[in-house]
Amino acid sequence: MATQPLDTAETAGDESRTPDQQLRDEWAKEFRDGLDRSSLEKPLATADTPIADIDVSRPELYSMDRWQPVFEKLRREDPVHYCKDSIYGPFWSLTSYKPIIHVEALPDIFSSDWRNGGFTILDSTDDPTMALPMFIGMDRPEHTAQRRTVSPAFTPSEMFRLDENVRHRTAELLDSLPVGETFDWVKDVSIELTTGMLAILFGFPWEDRRNLTYWSDWMGDIVAALDPELGPKRNKIMWEAATYFQALWKQRKESDPGPDLLSMMAHSDALGDMDERNFLGNITLLIVGGNDTTRNSMSGAAWFMNRFPEEREKLIADPGLIKNAVSETIRLQTPLAHMRRTATEDTELFGKEIRKGEKLVLWYLSANRDESVFEDADRWIVDRDNARRHLAFGYGIHRCVGARLAELQLQVLFEELAARRLMPETTGETERVNSNFVHGYKSMPVKLVKY
Ligand code: HEM
Repeated sequence: MATQPLDTAETAGDESRTPDQQLRDEWAKEFRDGLDRSSLEKPLATADTPIADIDVSRPELYSMDRWQPVFEKLRREDPVHYCKDSIYGPFWSLTSYKPIIHVEALPDIFSSDWRNGGFTILDSTDDPTMALPMFIGMDRPEHTAQRRTVSPAFTPSEMFRLDENVRHRTAELLDSLPVGETFDWVKDVSIELTTGMLAILFGFPWEDRRNLTYWSDWMGDIVAALDPELGPKRNKIMWEAATYFQALWKQRKESDPGPDLLSMMAHSDALGDMDERNFLGNITLLIVGGNDTTRNSMSGAAWFMNRFPEEREKLIADPGLIKNAVSETIRLQTPLAHMRRTATEDTELFGKEIRKGEKLVLWYLSANRDESVFEDADRWIVDRDNARRHLAFGYGIHRCVGARLAELQLQVLFEELAARRLMPETTGETERVNSNFVHGYKSMPVKLVKY
């Protein structure tokens, strides 16, 4: 199935674009042009920055891996912190465990709805991704009904069914890699395995599977959305993906039901009420939701095995620890740094007055280092007894629907490396993603060594 080539202009008058797309392009451009970028000229926060001046939305904090002392200060001194000036406008930062749980447990007061601002620090009302409504950006009861249509694809019995395929593909990939020669773990392992996993889940045409990664990378890049040059490109790519999925969806609807998720959704009774755009939005959500996240948990695994050799040795000596190491890896990595909610009424939160309409950013990355919950929180401890309490999958009604699949992929990777007595050893500079949302790695040179 070929994708339609699209030209690169993001302007009205582009014949290939529907009036709806053109309208959204214009609106996105207007938004970007109108942004107050002055906050970006201030020095990046450190542990010495006065509390009132801390802005943890700056993506460089994460690409430079300098966020730890800043969040540590916020957890200690001001766990519900107000940032009055950022490129995303004013926002509250929740940085410790309890306030995040509190907010996620009250989804009627703290909304995820795209009409209120959505689920990331970037307001969905400004983000053309939301041209396609998806259930992560909806409140009850709409959210409940839509989530129900996909959750059967992630039950333990479905994971059992997928296990063989995921394992086979992981083994095949590891066997194809050179031992003792440097390669990029992110590109050749994390991206390859994640792309394959999603293609299997969806029954996506195998020859086009790399498009999945390409599109998802752009869609998940909420920093690019604000950029005058990258923003228009991102819009284009999102529409290209939507066009492709539309064709695929039609194809599945007209074919006999199959075992893949896409077919299951296309033939499900519950989808009767969902319009086509909403359906496409949810497909996009499942692909984007599973992409950077699973990838970065696998890259995190390689990184931590190198950073914490004594823990790696523990894991090698006792493969029974792998299951726990999976949770611990996801905790320490926290592949999505945050989710966001919007207050639907004036309310009080841990001593702070929150006004209706204000934005609350839930920093999972920081809560997963909360010393009152996780002892020695900055360390990867493969037999940590409460690793599963991490918040990397969120909490409450929106808790990640794909969590079991991500865990399965990571577990299989650890097991298949152990079966071959292989371990990735870093050989050079690791490059990190420049984002306050996706927390991960762009590249990681490694060589495989036998032990
Ligand atoms: C929701 C993280 C893998 C699909 C979420 C949320 C987080 C998250 C933080 C929002 C939770 C909240 O608001 O409380 C992760 C991480 C993953 C991962 C860290 C990997 C390590 C996956 C996979 C898929 C997926 C593999 C599917 C293929 C979704 C969907 C939602 C979601 C559909 C929306 C759930 C809802 O709104 O009810 N994920 N995710 N995720 N995730 Fe994941």
